[in-house]
Amino acid sequence: MSVLDTLGRPVRSLRLSVTDRCNLRCHYCMPEDEYVWLPREDVLSFEETAQLADLFGQLGVDRIRLTGGEPLLRRNLPSLVAQLAERPWLSELTLTTNGVLLADAATELKAAGLHRITVSLDTVQPDRFTSLTRRDALPKVLAGIDAARRAGFVDLKIDSVITKGDNDDELGDLLEFGRSVGAEVRFIEYMDVGGATHWRPDAVFSRAAMLERLAGLYGPIEPLPSPASAPADRFQLPDGLAFGIIASTTQPFCRTCDRARLTADGVLLLCLYAQHGTDLRRPLRAGASRETLLNLLQAVWKGRADRGAEERRSVRDRGTYIPLRVLKKDAHLEMHTRGG
Ligand code: GTP
Ligand code: 5AD
Ligand code: SF4
Repeated sequence: MSVLDTLGRPVRSLRLSVTDRCNLRCHYCMPEDEYVWLPREDVLSFEETAQLADLFGQLGVDRIRLTGGEPLLRRNLPSLVAQLAERPWLSELTLTTNGVLLADAATELKAAGLHRITVSLDTVQPDRFTSLTRRDALPKVLAGIDAARRAGFVDLKIDSVITKGDNDDELGDLLEFGRSVGAEVRFIEYMDVGGATHWRPDAVFSRAAMLERLAGLYGPIEPLPSPASAPADRFQLPDGLAFGIIASTTQPFCRTCDRARLTADGVLLLCLYAQHGTDLRRPLRAGASRETLLNLLQAVWKGRADRGAEERRSVRDRGTYIPLRVLKKDAHLEMHTRGG
């Protein structure tokens, strides 16, 4: 069964957040000292998660990305991976992690059937890592990337959020690091999502600025073809090294966005910028039938009109998106609850 939203977009990709907890405090995501967490009893069991995932499968989803917070903080994650990997409707099962706990998990994740891993890493300088994430954990992340390669993960990706004055001088070093470990680097523009309470327009290092900087370092940059629904535009250096840019802030890709997000407590969000979601946990736990839940999902997707990043781009005098006092009242508004 395939279902289209009001802009003709299908649902193909499900981002499953398995926990809202994180072991880093990245400055663009968790800059505050204190957070309101999802109540533990609300967090879906793996069985509940897999049940909901199957419904999305029936609506046309064939790709799942496990996210967090930091997904490797969820106990027994490989057992969820193994359950999902068996689903016949699933063609791609991937994980986005900060890498801190990856060294110990990589072999088990591979054996459980995980297809690919993306590691978020914004700097290869130890002191800078500590100041940008408030944890001294770069050696662990590097060991995690190494372990993932040794466990047999190919097509590794490294996602680097670039913020002006913080790490825009590291584009070349990040690319060279990616080259040395066989991972494709994607540079991400700083987004004014919930949680980015320090966001300001002049901290955005745009895709245009990235390309200019890289052309200065390496010479002419060529575009490469990329699938329409992918967030990253791909490019190559004169020596053939490929990399991506995710320009969610200056060139949003809402028109082709085929993603649904499910928070760890079972709230369906239709957009990274959505201010409200649909609670699937309550009907699921109240014993709603598969058909009832499927009808609910279908109706919600059919009514979807979200194009959050595009709408934000047209805001004049753009500042922080969600004021801190509002964020404090609802953990669902936080980027670390939505899974990036
Ligand atoms: P693959 O293409 O399969 O590797 O997946 P992906 O690109 O979705 O991977 P990843 O989870 O690493 O996402 C990369 C980044 O894209 C995220 O960290 C966000 O910054 C951004 N992003 C992800 N989803 C959305 C979205 O729905 N809207 C916008 N505007 N940005 C997004
Ligand atoms: N802007 C851009 N990317 C962000 N992420 C978290 N917050 C932001 C933001 N404000 C990204 C992380 C990671 C993913 C899970 O979400 O870098 O790659
Ligand atoms: Fe950083 Fe991801 Fe943790 Fe946010 S959820 S603090 S982006 S590692």
